[in-house]
Amino acid sequence: MTKLDTPIPAVAMTATDAAPTAEKAKAEVRGLNFFYGGSVQALKQINLTLAENQVTALIGPSGCGKSTFLRCFNRMHDLYPGNRYEGEIVVQPDNTDILGPKVDPIEVRMRVSMVFQKPNPFPKSIYENVAYGLRVRGVKKRSIVDDKVEQALRGAALWSEVKDRLQDLAFNLSGGQQQRLCIARALATDPEILLFDEPTSALDPIATASIEELIAELKNKLTILIVTHNMQQAARVSDYTAFMHLGELVEFGDTNTIFTNPSNKRTEDYITGRYG
Ligand SMILES: Nc1ncnc2c1ncn2[C@@H]1O[C@H](COP(=O)(O)OP(=O)(O)OP(=O)(O)O)[C@@H](O)[C@H]1O
Ligand SMILES: [Mg+2]
Repeated sequence: MTKLDTPIPAVAMTATDAAPTAEKAKAEVRGLNFFYGGSVQALKQINLTLAENQVTALIGPSGCGKSTFLRCFNRMHDLYPGNRYEGEIVVQPDNTDILGPKVDPIEVRMRVSMVFQKPNPFPKSIYENVAYGLRVRGVKKRSIVDDKVEQALRGAALWSEVKDRLQDLAFNLSGGQQQRLCIARALATDPEILLFDEPTSALDPIATASIEELIAELKNKLTILIVTHNMQQAARVSDYTAFMHLGELVEFGDTNTIFTNPSNKRTEDYITGRYG
């Protein structure tokens, strides 16, 4: 049996020692390699399972491949020629390999939404920012769009702050509000997986706390993968933590174990601040 044929256990495992738990798998990454421009290998043989309705944090030193890994989940790399994936990301419940050649990346982005490091609202009204994905999907009926916009803004804990100014330009919101608006925009198309790439690194501590609270609520509805440089944040918000180094997944397990009793020396050095 080759490494790629080896069955992946149901949920969390360390890179070396499988330790499945009782939760359901939402996405299974199997033997994932990624190459920029066809030659620079940024991810090496990654195997990892995202547990449904749980938060998985990705940590590791700058340049280790966290953002690269995250972007595989919504096929962002397809936007640039020459990039190449090997391996699979199989998403449940339909068992679809979202890296498969027949899968439309636009469909994948409906199922897997992303929130970036810096809030990046469009130069449109608050309402139109949230309605954007629905319009792309061809939803036209005003009452449906209104309902979905309200639902998404409520889901992003922003509704009460903006309900009387939905036609204001999004840029008039504070940084923290803009980031919650971007979360609402991501939520409007009912994604199953939400990706966050350092979502609070441009925010003050109060706005950060509100995003962290939101993440804790959102996981009841969907599955979350978050990149963070902040160890305390990873420990606070995540159920599982993956430590990456030089494009490899070094260790993966429940967050408590990774932070209190890591089994790999490189993980320990990183979380105790001796590295990176
Ligand atoms: N467009 C690109 N073309 C070529 N190489 C790239 C590209 N983007 C990233 N890389 C390289 O891939 C590796 C992983 O980068 P990535 O951005 O995924 O790291 P990261 O862990 O997110 O780092 P950071 O914590 O600084 O955001 C790095 O060596 C980086 O230089
Ligand atoms: Mg990054």
